[in-house]
Amino acid sequence: MNKYEQHASAATLNAGIDWDSYPVLLDMQADLTPEYWENVDALLENSRTFFDPERNPNVRICDIGAGTGNFCRAIAHQYPRASITHLEPTPNMNARARQKYDEDRLSNISIVEAPFASYEWQPEEWDIIVCVNTLYMLTPHQETLQKIFTALKPGGLFFVVDFGRKQVPSDWFWYFLGNAVKGINTWKYLKAVPRFGKMATQAKSGSQTQVEGLWWTHTTEEFGEALTEAGFTVKDLKPCYRDYADMAICTR
Ligand SMILES: C[S@@+](CC[C@H](N)C(=O)[O-])C[C@H]1O[C@@H](n2cnc3c(N)ncnc32)[C@H](O)[C@@H]1O
Repeated sequence: MNKYEQHASAATLNAGIDWDSYPVLLDMQADLTPEYWENVDALLENSRTFFDPERNPNVRICDIGAGTGNFCRAIAHQYPRASITHLEPTPNMNARARQKYDEDRLSNISIVEAPFASYEWQPEEWDIIVCVNTLYMLTPHQETLQKIFTALKPGGLFFVVDFGRKQVPSDWFWYFLGNAVKGINTWKYLKAVPRFGKMATQAKSGSQTQVEGLWWTHTTEEFGEALTEAGFTVKDLKPCYRDYADMAICTR
C-alpha cells in the first residue's frame, strides 16, 4: 500500500462514522429525508440526458461508496442491460444492498467489496460514474478526482454529490420532527425514534472528524473549482441535500 492508500484507508475506515453498524441508520435517514430521493431523481434525469436508455442500453456504470444500494438500484431499473459496479468496502452495507438487488431481481449489478484506493481503475472505463456523499472521505480529494477523471470515458457523466458543510446533528432532529408534525413521513418518524440516540452518536463523531480536518469540507464554489482543476467540465453545480451538500453534473 502506498502512502496515499494508507492515508485514504485510515481517514475513511478508522475515522468518523462506524459504517459497518450504519446501514439501517442510513436507510432510516433516507426514508425521513425527501431531499435524499431528489438526488436519486437527479441522477436518473441527468443520466437519461447523457445516455438515452433506448439508444445506449449497454452503458457501464460505477457507483463509488454505493452504501445500501439506493442509487444503483434506481439506475439499474433505468438501464436494465447496463453493466453496473457497486464499489463499497463495508460488508454490512453490501449485505443490505444485495437484499434489495435480489428483491428486484437485478442481475446486472456486481458488488465489489473494496475501498476506492484498492480498486484497479482503468483509463476510460466508465460511461457513468456516481459518487454520492463519499468523496469527502477520499482524501486527498484532488488525487481522487483525477483518478475518477481518468477512469471516465470522454463524453461520460460524473454525477457527484458531496457533504461539504459541517454537520449539525440537532438541526437534523428538528427537521425530522418538523416534517413529522406537518404529516410528512410521520409513521416512519415514529418508527425511527428509538434509533435516534445511535444516530446522534454517529453524527457527532462525523462532525468531529470534519472539525479535525480529516474529512473535506467545502463551499459550493470550492467544490466546483476542485472539479475543474481535475479536468472536468462542470455542466451544473448547486447546493443540495438541505444545503449540507453540493451536486455537480460533470463530463470530460
Ligand atoms: C454517507 S454513505 C453514502 C452511501 C450512498 N452513496 C448513499 O448516498 O446512499 C458513505 C459510504 O461510503 C463508504 N466508504 C467509506 N470509505 C470508503 C472508501 N475508502 N471507498 C469507497 N467507499 C467508502 C461507506 O462505507 C458508506 O457506505
